[in-house]
Amino acid sequence: MKLPHALLSILADGRFHSGTELGEKTTRTRAAVWKAIQALQDSGLEIFSVRGKGYRLARPIELLQRETILQGLDANSRQHLNALEVFSEIDSTNSYLLEIAKQGEASAYACLAEQQHAGRGRRGRNWVSPYGGNIYLSLLWRFNCGAAQLGGLSLAVGVAVNRALRDIGLEHARLKWPNDILLDERKLAGILLEMAGEASGPCVVVMGIGLNVRTPAAAMGEVEQAWVDLESSLPHKVGRNQLVSYLLQHLIDISRQFEQHGFHAFQDEWNENHAFGGRQVELQLPDRQLSGVALGVDRSGALLLSHEGRTTRFHGGEVSLRVPS
Ligand code: BTN
Repeated sequence: MKLPHALLSILADGRFHSGTELGEKTTRTRAAVWKAIQALQDSGLEIFSVRGKGYRLARPIELLQRETILQGLDANSRQHLNALEVFSEIDSTNSYLLEIAKQGEASAYACLAEQQHAGRGRRGRNWVSPYGGNIYLSLLWRFNCGAAQLGGLSLAVGVAVNRALRDIGLEHARLKWPNDILLDERKLAGILLEMAGEASGPCVVVMGIGLNVRTPAAAMGEVEQAWVDLESSLPHKVGRNQLVSYLLQHLIDISRQFEQHGFHAFQDEWNENHAFGGRQVELQLPDRQLSGVALGVDRSGALLLSHEGRTTRFHGGEVSLRVPS
């Protein structure tokens, strides 16, 4: 186990632990412990250091635990999940599963990390992934249809995330087309689907979800978009392992249903939870920008935009709310 992770598994209880105790338990020198603590503080974790007492996390954290997550799954999901790996750090859980896909591993295969060093976002952006507070989850699923039939899948993944949020008592998260999860118009979670395989043959999809649970503001300096995390939005504590179990359960559920019925099965639920339904938006297309009223999505997951007296369907583009001038 790497030193930062070893230290955090001791500090997770939120109590004081002396430098000597931490050194002994991790079999490292006190200087090495001190350096690792500094690095954790730099990554945004609040750790108090008090002379004569040692180190203490400002708030206890619940580290991700494979066994706890598996125990939290219902029998049906457990039966479909072939592998679940939990890393303390990784480049990107999506990249990892894309490699796994090349080796022909069986679906479903899930992977989580406490921290990503090269987290991937949509449109080539970076997904800032500080240690120990958020959820970085990817699920590999082998669909028996070609990529052409998978339009709308990323929207269905949004529905799955929203269902998991409801399971933990968050009722007012909303979906932004095509696949962001917003809370009070700030980004709570992002979804990135990546495909491996031929456009015509069976298709392996890696569904990646980044969900802010406890997000240190210090680590988010470079993120331009307004964001929010769960802990500051809910009156109760969020059990990360439990939340991951719910996410996996719903992801497995929607993947199975999508295979049979396509996006159509999720259209109503998506529209009921649409963040911008009936509101004035700007749609940024590669070659132009359009203003109109976002109506919702059609049975294929395309955005319906009412502008210049008619309704048009869009399959790509970035939506933002139009701020009245
Ligand atoms: C977005 O830009 O909104 C999508 C962000 C997706 C981030 C998640 S975190 C887990 C998975 N692994 C990655 O590298 N990216 C996705």
